[in-house]
Amino acid sequence: MKTSIQYHDETSYDRHRMSGHYLDWPNQPAVFKAYPGIDPVLLPKDVELPDASFWSVLSGQGGGVMNREMDLEELSRIFLLCYTLTAKARHPEGDFYFRSAASAGALYPTEIYIASNGVKGLKDGLYHFAPQHHGLVLLREQPVTTPLSAITGKPDTGAPVVSFILTAIYFRSAWKYRARAYRYNLLDTGHVIENLASALKALNVSFDLTYDFDDQGINHLLGVDETREVALAVVQVEGAGAAPAVLSEPLRPVSPQLVMASRVSQKEVDYPVIRDFHEAGMGKSGPTAPLPEMTNHLGLGRPAWQKIGEPSAGIEVMGYPEALLRRRSKRNFIKKRVTKPCMDAFLKALCAKDHPGGTDRSSYEECLSVGFLAANVEGMDPGFYLVDPAKSFVGKVKPGAFTETMTSICLDQAWLAYAGVHFLFMANLDILDRVHGPRGYRYAMMVAGRLGQRLYVAATALGLGCCGIGALYDGEAAELLGLDDSSRLLYLVAAGTVKKA
Ligand SMILES: Cc1cc2nc3c(=O)[nH]c(=O)nc-3n(C[C@H](O)[C@H](O)[C@H](O)COP(=O)(O)O)c2cc1C
Repeated sequence: MKTSIQYHDETSYDRHRMSGHYLDWPNQPAVFKAYPGIDPVLLPKDVELPDASFWSVLSGQGGGVMNREMDLEELSRIFLLCYTLTAKARHPEGDFYFRSAASAGALYPTEIYIASNGVKGLKDGLYHFAPQHHGLVLLREQPVTTPLSAITGKPDTGAPVVSFILTAIYFRSAWKYRARAYRYNLLDTGHVIENLASALKALNVSFDLTYDFDDQGINHLLGVDETREVALAVVQVEGAGAAPAVLSEPLRPVSPQLVMASRVSQKEVDYPVIRDFHEAGMGKSGPTAPLPEMTNHLGLGRPAWQKIGEPSAGIEVMGYPEALLRRRSKRNFIKKRVTKPCMDAFLKALCAKDHPGGTDRSSYEECLSVGFLAANVEGMDPGFYLVDPAKSFVGKVKPGAFTETMTSICLDQAWLAYAGVHFLFMANLDILDRVHGPRGYRYAMMVAGRLGQRLYVAATALGLGCCGIGALYDGEAAELLGLDDSSRLLYLVAAGTVKKA
């Protein structure tokens, strides 16, 4: 059975062993799933979005209300804040749309489905969200909340009025990134999860998020072809929807056409490395032991911790949702300092709790360590720093101007040298494997994606720029940071002042 560290190392980039790969443009994957012959239920687009600062949304100030009623307008707001089309690029072969969540190579592997249970104006059933129509495609007319609760192991008393199921289609990313693509499937899905969680917080809706479920059960329920598309996360809105209908008959198999919709190109290449590793993580029953504090197990010295400053009121130049809808990857960094209030705001964003009103870090968040390379930050010497999100602490591991070398490690994407800070997401994969099995890799990568998206929106709200970086020489990055043999840098997100935000 493949371990996280094996998958990660097999898909590492090495400066001296990069094999050439040409992109098969005629067989580029479709970015939207197609269900011919089924008209989507269109969601109203002209709805008012919540007006709040990004920091009030992150802290979940409302606390989250259970037993919320849900109608098409509310559902529309959630999707507009989560995975909507936000920008258009004109190409000779047709318009291309960017979305509110960042995605490696703009390949958008993530799909969203909902199980509705008492949403006003919507029949109970299973739907696929079609961003190109801002609509919902009905896949199962049967109510599916009861079987979904059985699959996620969540009791269906206080039935969720709506459950969101997020999947990834392997080949969308693998077309470009080959076997390494599973990393991007997970990171990209984390970006979308963060948008969904923020939307629910902004609307003051209480929710439960899980990355654990019976994989085959859920893939079957969705009617996807699980050799191509797999469920990664379930977000259930808590509270009493209608008492879930008891199924009068077992779940019907979906039509072969629906299963075929997971196919996104005429000529797909199968990467068994991805399938085998995903399948190795199936059927996990729970952690085998408590997860030790990840930050103490990266092979780094203990920093002298300091409390992170409180972000000053009113530093954001725009609120949420404007920041979310205007978020784009920015690479036009200039060598201008990131001010202390902005840096404190970034760090506070990384420390925000997973759930409104929550006090502890979730067991998923504990799978990841957070740090950064400061290059040009007010009040901070250049160096490698760690963050302790549970205690809101920051501490310097070692001084030094590391971002130039890191830029070279990130496949010489030269503009990275101008960013004020490189945020780092790391994990000891050996510990993850021992405690969670190969499924632990999913947790760490999706949490890294969530935090990446959070930094993007924070940067936009602060009038700064941000860009996720998945392309790096993995061994060199671990060496520069001084990580031990079992620890790896999973994702890097650059942020700083840009020429035009
Ligand atoms: C996981 C991940 C990895 C990425 N890696 C890189 C990278 O190595 N270099 C880069 O220039 N952009 C990178 N990006 C940014 C994407 O190219 C960008 O999100 C995508 O083109 C969509 O554009 P937008 O973010 O402006 O909406 C990455 C984004 C994500 C989410």
